Amino acid sequence: MEKLNKLLRVDDLSDRDLVNITDLSFEYMREKVSEGVLKGKVVANLFFENSTRTLLAFEIAEKSLGAVSVTLNMATSSVNKGETFVDTVATLEAMGADLLVIRTKDSGLIDLMEDKTGDRCLINAGDGVREHPTQAITDYCTIRHLRGENITGLNVVICGDVRHSRVAKSNIRLLSKCGANITVVAPEYFLPEKPLKGVSFVTHSLEEGLRNADVVMLLRIQKERISESSAISENGYSALYMLNEEKLATFAKKDVVVMHPGPINRGVEISGGVADGANSAILTQVRMGVAVRKAILHYMLV
Ligand code: NCD
Repeated sequence: MEKLNKLLRVDDLSDRDLVNITDLSFEYMREKVSEGVLKGKVVANLFFENSTRTLLAFEIAEKSLGAVSVTLNMATSSVNKGETFVDTVATLEAMGADLLVIRTKDSGLIDLMEDKTGDRCLINAGDGVREHPTQAITDYCTIRHLRGENITGLNVVICGDVRHSRVAKSNIRLLSKCGANITVVAPEYFLPEKPLKGVSFVTHSLEEGLRNADVVMLLRIQKERISESSAISENGYSALYMLNEEKLATFAKKDVVVMHPGPINRGVEISGGVADGANSAILTQVRMGVAVRKAILHYMLV
């Protein structure tokens, strides 16, 4: 069985990889300590775009498993002196990094490194509007944690800026492969340009989408990835698509799981009451995010 050493897209995961990473994540969720499991390994985090959750989850995972963990601060790095992405990555490799965690603004840029990095491990921590596989694994494990073994037949509704969301793309790939029924809820301007494989139903109506949902995932408007973002009115969007207490109580099942990859914009795609309410799994996702990053690093490096 080939070892997983590049995790650039959901399709890089075999069924066996997903089972193994999920099992390990649940062990780390139960706080099974594996101090020192990454002793002697060097992990470099290269984030060419802003991040809170993903970067810190990786750093916490790397440090608590005993790796030497370094993060390049973009504000003070030589990227600002004109160094190319490829040269920056090669520099970190020459310093002995065993695994590189990379986030880029440009979709597909990380693919450039796939062949250049040989056996070295590489993780895509989000590339433009394309993929964010470790967030999708986090969301998959969160759903399993809250709703049990079986994802088959579960109705998952993804609402918001699907067009510019790499989280949505990776989640659709992974959850549909695992048998979930995926509904996309969005205004026309946030629907993907081409229909996405794995989506079973598309609607402009949040009310309609909510009716049979077991899980609803909300998305931030990805302003930094939209060139014409000034043309989109946040107020107009939230009047129709913000999930608030009233819509939740009127249209959704009592036990619907409300998810959001963060960062959340209260009052735009989600009300404060729903974000902090009994159905919200947002902080469980954050906790699972650390466990999943520990599991992925452990799985790839040991
Ligand atoms: C997302 C991202 O950066 O793609 N957040 C995350 O990684 N948890 C979502 C977003 O930026 O809205």
